[in-house]
Amino acid sequence: MTNWHHKHIIDLSEFSKEDYKTVLDLANRFKALPQSGSRKLPALQGRFVATLFFEPSTRTRSSFELAAKRLSADVQTFSPSSSSLSKGETPLDTALTYVAMGADVLIVRHSSTGVPKQLAESLQKLGKNTSILNGGDGLHSHPSQALLDLFTLANFFKPQNPTIEILEGKTIVIVGDILHSRVARSNLWSLTGCGANVILCGPPSLLPKEFSHFVKDPPPGQKKDPIKKRGNVSISWSLKDALYQADAVIALRLQKERMNENLLSNLITYSREFGITHESLKACKQNIPVLHPGPVNRDIEISSELLNDRKVCLVDQQVANGIPIRMALLYLLIAGNQIE
Ligand code: CP
Repeated sequence: MTNWHHKHIIDLSEFSKEDYKTVLDLANRFKALPQSGSRKLPALQGRFVATLFFEPSTRTRSSFELAAKRLSADVQTFSPSSSSLSKGETPLDTALTYVAMGADVLIVRHSSTGVPKQLAESLQKLGKNTSILNGGDGLHSHPSQALLDLFTLANFFKPQNPTIEILEGKTIVIVGDILHSRVARSNLWSLTGCGANVILCGPPSLLPKEFSHFVKDPPPGQKKDPIKKRGNVSISWSLKDALYQADAVIALRLQKERMNENLLSNLITYSREFGITHESLKACKQNIPVLHPGPVNRDIEISSELLNDRKVCLVDQQVANGIPIRMALLYLLIAGNQIE
């Protein structure tokens, strides 16, 4: 039996080391299943998972749907553009519609920070048993992305036994638009929670120095940090300095849709100073892997040449690892107390 006790997955600030271990162990088991023949497990037969993506997505939504199907759950996709949102229906009433149809898990993405948490609280107040799994909200949190990044890094550093212990003491550079990135925020919780040190890197306009305190205290409303000792977080405005210390680098997308001001006047200057290329990687002491959550602005965050170099750039592995990680999350939310 596991000690899994999360009814919802909203933010990784709530995850303990045991939680990370449980998710990665289960993802390893799902990943090890034969890759030919029927890939379906009967584990969630008769259960119902709905994806409520109020903001666009390619990877997260498809990967959750595939994960649910691999576990034999019934899956329903909500499409905002052809839904009753245009008639004024609220996200809560949308969610309640799927709850009334018997949904076990609602995976929710929204451009506004806090919507998945508000839905979880509302459902709880109404006595509903449905779980909310955050598929990315505003600038706040993208837990399944950070978990698949963690899994990909663990697989890179120790393919024969990819557990969280291998992250202890590693230095992971996260470069780019930190200010607007929910992926960076979730990665900060997960990487430091597993003992890795994080160097945040980017131009000052996209990397306020307050970020070095990000994981010092739990977010408002959360009583305590379940992790006793986290890795360090530091800030570098020089890619060369950061890469010199790196064991891995995660490049982030410039989120132009979330930039209200003219924070980046010149993309060419940005890509010259902070773009990851074979040339910029020469600043590293060793060969390091390059990750990116996607979608990528080619030749801005990562050069096309490097993006196509699958020995160095792990984007395909991240996407592939998203399926067992999301299978693990769905399984834990629906049947977590049945694991031996
Ligand atoms: N990484 C990520 O969230 O990608 P999508 O927006 O395509 O889901």
